[in-house]
Amino acid sequence: MNGVSRKSHWENVYATKGEREVSWFQEDPAPSLELIALAGLSEGASVIDIGGGASRLVDALVERNIGQVTVLDLSAAALDAARERLEQRLGGKAAGVQWVAADVTTWEPTRTYDLWHDRAAFHFLTDPTDRSAYVERLKKAVKRGGYVIIGTFALDGPEKCSGLPIVRYDAASLSTILGSDFELIDARRHDHATPWGAVQRFQFSTFRRT
Ligand SMILES: C[S@@+](CC[C@H](N)C(=O)[O-])C[C@H]1O[C@@H](n2cnc3c(N)ncnc32)[C@H](O)[C@@H]1O
Repeated sequence: MNGVSRKSHWENVYATKGEREVSWFQEDPAPSLELIALAGLSEGASVIDIGGGASRLVDALVERNIGQVTVLDLSAAALDAARERLEQRLGGKAAGVQWVAADVTTWEPTRTYDLWHDRAAFHFLTDPTDRSAYVERLKKAVKRGGYVIIGTFALDGPEKCSGLPIVRYDAASLSTILGSDFELIDARRHDHATPWGAVQRFQFSTFRRT
């Protein structure tokens, strides 16, 4: 899928579906928060949520006073929805969040981060060229000693997400793609319950940049 049709797919999803009408909705992003806590970030640390969409992870990070939070997504509609919710819930505290409407495979990072989080965005990159472009951005954007948390469908998870084909991973296959600059420090599975009660098997892998 090229960049233009990818963007129009996601803009259409967020323009036509409510928060609880998408399979990946999570009231409480507990699995991600647990892994972010393991990283033991210091005060003022910077976190970027790649393909964050309208996820509530940003709310939880701002509530926990994580220093600098950035949300990147292809869909401007998703970012607008997240920003409006955050402003309503947290008022002035929402102002510090950076919102980046971009395709991660062509984005040019202008700064570095202590932690990179991605829940269910990387797995859409079915073309090896896009995966290489993603890893290039990862190397540019994550500080040495920084953390990378990637959640994908597990090897026994669904074959599609949002009607699109995806690639399923375990920690070893993801580790091979990220390469030797990223040391695997944690691997766990998570069963996500969709808003309509189906179970989706996820794999969360955490790496430290050497
Ligand atoms: C399944 S949703 C997950 C959203 C969010 N991470 C969550 O856990 O609720 C996938 C998200 O990745 C975004 N996305 C897909 N491909 C992307 C790309 N190449 N660059 C940036 N965002 C992308 C979509 O717009 C969508 O918001």
